[in-house]
Amino acid sequence: MKAARLLKLTGQVTRVIGLTVEVQGINASIGEVCEIAVPGEPEAIRAEVVGFRDGSTLLMPLGELRGIHQGCSVTPGGGSFKIKVGEQLLGRVLNGLGEPLDGLGPVGGHAMDYPVDGRPPNPLQRKRITEVFATGVRAVDALLTCGRGQRLGIFSGSGVGKSTLLGMIARYSSADVNVISLTGERGREVLDFIETDLGPEGLRRSVVVAATSEQPALVRLKGAFVASAIAEYFRDRGKNVLL
Ligand SMILES: Nc1ncnc2c1ncn2[C@@H]1O[C@H](COP(=O)(O)OP(=O)(O)O)[C@@H](O)[C@H]1O
Ligand SMILES: [Mg+2]
Repeated sequence: MKAARLLKLTGQVTRVIGLTVEVQGINASIGEVCEIAVPGEPEAIRAEVVGFRDGSTLLMPLGELRGIHQGCSVTPGGGSFKIKVGEQLLGRVLNGLGEPLDGLGPVGGHAMDYPVDGRPPNPLQRKRITEVFATGVRAVDALLTCGRGQRLGIFSGSGVGKSTLLGMIARYSSADVNVISLTGERGREVLDFIETDLGPEGLRRSVVVAATSEQPALVRLKGAFVASAIAEYFRDRGKNVLL
């Protein structure tokens, strides 16, 4: 009974400055996802609580602000941002909020809700890097051998071959599952990457999360967390995951 939220309080939008929406009349905590109802729109706009000021709650939208006006009703969702995960995510392309982009319908089957804000493990409980990770690219394996559990940066100017190398590793590495986050890429590069660099056999064992450069800042930020959460889900099921 203590945990039950029986009465759903709704508040009102009082002010919008830039990407910040001020709401009065709700009692929500940082990270909680609220729904802003916009008249005439079939779906409410989701927004996350990012702060408080002078008795108002400050929200940042997980989408477009278009249509929001003073007095729009706001309902706290009661929890942090969650996405649908399941084995059936393999081969799918999602947006920065974990929703399908590929027109293949919702993530059905036994999909379950998974929190996006997972906690990093205690450093003393992390496994040490003792095994070789075969990227499947001979030049890298021979000269720049990688380890399972390692984090690796690939930095270069545009057109040098980052996407091509990423696609090769996704296709030929020894990982069971690839989770590929395309954050801040140009819109036209996404299909190029999926069709040319990744190819059908690469996509079959991958989940792609694409939050392109024109998306709101919070969606691009969430895209990186969504990809990490999907990788954590497959890791928890005993898979070797390449993120
Ligand atoms: N190892 C390579 N040898 C020759 N050409 C390559 C190699 N890797 C990539 N390329 C070519 O370079 C171009 C740019 O590669 P791309 O992966 O899109 O770059 P980036 O993602 O760094 O902008 C592509 O036309 C690709 O075919
Ligand atoms: Mg590229």
